[in-house]
Amino acid sequence: MSDYHIKNLEDYSKNYKSSVNNPEKFWAEIAKNNFVWKREWNSVLNWDFNKPEIKWFEGAILNITENCIDRHLDKHANKTAIVFEPNDENEKEKKISYKELYIRVNKMSNVLKSKGVKKGDRVCIYLPMIPELAISVLACARIGAIHSVVFAGFSSTALATRIIDCDCRLVITSDGSFRGNKILDLKAIVDKALDNCPQVSKVLLVNRTKNKISLKKDRDELLAPLLQEAKEECVAEPMQSEDPLFILYTSGSTGKPKGMVHSTAGYMVGAAYTFKNIFQYGDEDIYWCTADIGWVTGHSYIVYGPLLNAATTVMFEGVPSYPDFGRFWKIVEKYRVNQFYTAPTAIRALAKESLDFVNKYNLSSLKVLGSVGEPINEEAWNWYNNHIGKNKCPIVDTWWQTETGSIMISSIPNVIKGKATFATLPFIGIQPVLMDNNGKEILENSVEGRLCVKFPWPSIARTIWGDHQRYKDTYFSTFENHYFTGDGSYRDDQGYYRITGRVDDVIIVSGHNLGTAPIEDAINEHNEVAESAIVGVPHEVKGNSLFGYINLKSKIDPTKQNQLRNEINGLISNQIGPIAKLDQIEFVPGLPKTRSGKIMRRILRKIAHNEVDNLGDVSTLLNPEIVNQIINQIIK
Ligand code: PRX
Repeated sequence: MSDYHIKNLEDYSKNYKSSVNNPEKFWAEIAKNNFVWKREWNSVLNWDFNKPEIKWFEGAILNITENCIDRHLDKHANKTAIVFEPNDENEKEKKISYKELYIRVNKMSNVLKSKGVKKGDRVCIYLPMIPELAISVLACARIGAIHSVVFAGFSSTALATRIIDCDCRLVITSDGSFRGNKILDLKAIVDKALDNCPQVSKVLLVNRTKNKISLKKDRDELLAPLLQEAKEECVAEPMQSEDPLFILYTSGSTGKPKGMVHSTAGYMVGAAYTFKNIFQYGDEDIYWCTADIGWVTGHSYIVYGPLLNAATTVMFEGVPSYPDFGRFWKIVEKYRVNQFYTAPTAIRALAKESLDFVNKYNLSSLKVLGSVGEPINEEAWNWYNNHIGKNKCPIVDTWWQTETGSIMISSIPNVIKGKATFATLPFIGIQPVLMDNNGKEILENSVEGRLCVKFPWPSIARTIWGDHQRYKDTYFSTFENHYFTGDGSYRDDQGYYRITGRVDDVIIVSGHNLGTAPIEDAINEHNEVAESAIVGVPHEVKGNSLFGYINLKSKIDPTKQNQLRNEINGLISNQIGPIAKLDQIEFVPGLPKTRSGKIMRRILRKIAHNEVDNLGDVSTLLNPEIVNQIINQIIK
């Protein structure tokens, strides 16, 4: 492996220039010198944003797990690949070396093969944050199966939708999941989901919580005995560079989630190169990302990015508040963590607690702090900087998306200085632009616009599973010949980007991307509900909370309203998961609509934000009178 480590600003500028002036040459060199290929590519990049079609390293053959594991065995066989920190701090941690990881992934691969899984098949993984999750992901990749990890906080309905969408035949899950002092019965959730998924013929189960489960004959099998019997060698499947590596669902502007499809080679190059440089990972470092592997952050920066760089990556099963609010910092001290990557919502929640929870622990090992998933406000940034980083750790505020596969805009420790609330500059190879409302690129600085990218990068998602037209409509149709991110951004006089938030129907709550449409669909299933509209309102800890305007079919007795609110939130929990519950529910006599019947969310948003002075002209609405009625009801 060559040294693809960016060392200083000059190095960054030089590399950035080459990546833009001659992207093919630049990425070919990175790819050639830092990965193992079974065969090299015929062409580096073929693309057309109008189709859209994006292909990197076409003709190449590789297996990403050989890059994540096998090639490290010479030098790093005994190095710890994964440190597993259990939910219960009294349970002993587990350290899995690269050699052990190799064996465990191979065994899991052989089990999957023995159950008939073949190259190209989709496998659904619904597991807590235990080593078997990372191992299952890698086992799929080893045999060329496409993994679809579903976050184990999603409900049975949400799980079923995802299983059906990509036609998974096999599900890997566990008896349960520990979260703080609770046990979630994952098996029951899977059973319920599978009532609607007759095509699933096999469920493999990890024993984690040891709570009682029943096994469905012929369908359910415990993994432990199968793994014990399985062989320790499994030849890695030769994969084409553009073969799908995984599908990961993200919310969109309709009720149906979008299964973003990531490729093998491009994704690998993007995840590895960004990990190394944005965290400035050094060979002996201990790196910890607190995300769940159920989200893209976990895919790219717990599993693939770190392992591709032979790093030691910490996997934490629990929650930041258990057994108390010092847990994160206790873990940092315990393993002498060097790079720590988390979400603003966690920072804000912890900043509300006593500093004693922080000051009890020795955090001197920390070198780099990271933030991801939503804009980080100045107060949270300062708290992170002062109390966790002790003013000596650079903070990387990393902007990216499920769709982008890897980090797109970020500072780089000791290379590009961070600036509170700014993601700062584009990473190497990334060409962001701001567009105005007329679809014209804004060239000057100190402006706000819609954030787009004008040139492909290796880890961009290639399509939406089963719906290429939707991929085109969502990302490549708003602005001609550009990838549209759905975010707004400000660019300051130095060219630094500050992400201002979503400009579409997605609301980010506690770092989770939630579409308003699926939540409204869930609410509208209630017998009493005629229609509904969801908007986001700023929230101290969660970033945004959900505010629902609900128009009922008929008036209800005020004493029954709370009961109805609970029923509505219950429906949302069932259909999506508890993360999508509404914080505030207002029963309103109607929703403001345009003459063509479109709900005017902009107005509803302003009312929820208490900004009723500049609602604009409402006289052209179909039902202008409703606006004042809602204002009078809500703003007392
Ligand atoms: O709005 C942006 C926000 O999260 C969205 C992507 O969400 P998701 O696909 O779930 O991926 C999250 C983890 C990469 C973006 O469109 N977002 C992500 N990172 C930042 C951010 N907003 C501001 N600053 C960030 N650093």
